[in-house]
Amino acid sequence: MRKISEGAEACIYKTMMLGRNAIIKYRVEKSYRVMELDSDLRERRTRNEARIQAELYEIGVRVPSVMLAGRHFIVMNEVAGETLNKIKMIESGRGSTAIRIMSEAGSLLARIHDHGISHGDFTTANLMLDRNGRLWVIDFGLSAFTNSAEDKALDIILMKRSVGEKLYSHFIKGYVGGTAEAGSVLKKLEEIERRGRYQTRTLSVG
Ligand SMILES: Nc1ncnc2c1ncn2[C@@H]1O[C@H](COP(=O)(O)OP(=O)(O)OP(=O)(O)O)[C@@H](O)[C@H]1O
Ligand SMILES: [Mg+2]
Repeated sequence: MRKISEGAEACIYKTMMLGRNAIIKYRVEKSYRVMELDSDLRERRTRNEARIQAELYEIGVRVPSVMLAGRHFIVMNEVAGETLNKIKMIESGRGSTAIRIMSEAGSLLARIHDHGISHGDFTTANLMLDRNGRLWVIDFGLSAFTNSAEDKALDIILMKRSVGEKLYSHFIKGYVGGTAEAGSVLKKLEEIERRGRYQTRTLSVG
């Protein structure tokens, strides 16, 4: 078993399970939390993540399939590829592949939202491109069952901040084409951005 990533909340290991390449996502202890509370919190987050990921898999959204889940870990299929933030072509925002991928990311998010789920961390670091050019969504650690337009708008804002303007425009086209609810979410997005501008203005005056 080889550790391939160490994030704020979880360690990722590469392994084999049932003859398939698999990933173990283990939620690590946080020594600054009281031990019992920490364990409960990690368990709740792990269960939430596994449940949402499994549900999206069921409805055919391209997410790694959950093979096994324990109190503090999830074993899932490995995606043989890279996260979008590591791919030059996406970073530079050039080329028809980058455009296709961003528009696909938009329609993927639309499907997730239509199922009453927000991702919570929808950035290029949590989208993966596999060797066959297929796009996958990973990391449901901050996801929630919700139908709030605000939660959904926040997913879009995160992506907006993680790519350039041109790619964002293709992303949003994919999103709008993928859901009938786009209108209310985009309205909320504008409202949040207006609020943000207002806050920075008042803060800088004060
Ligand atoms: N199913 C998978 N297949 C291949 N690589 C994966 C898979 N899941 C995670 N990874 C790799 O591990 C990295 C971290 O995983 P992930 O984004 O789920 O955790 P994290 O960001 O550390 O966690 P969290 O945001 O929940 O604290 C990813 O960026 C990716 O490189
Ligand atoms: Mg992540």
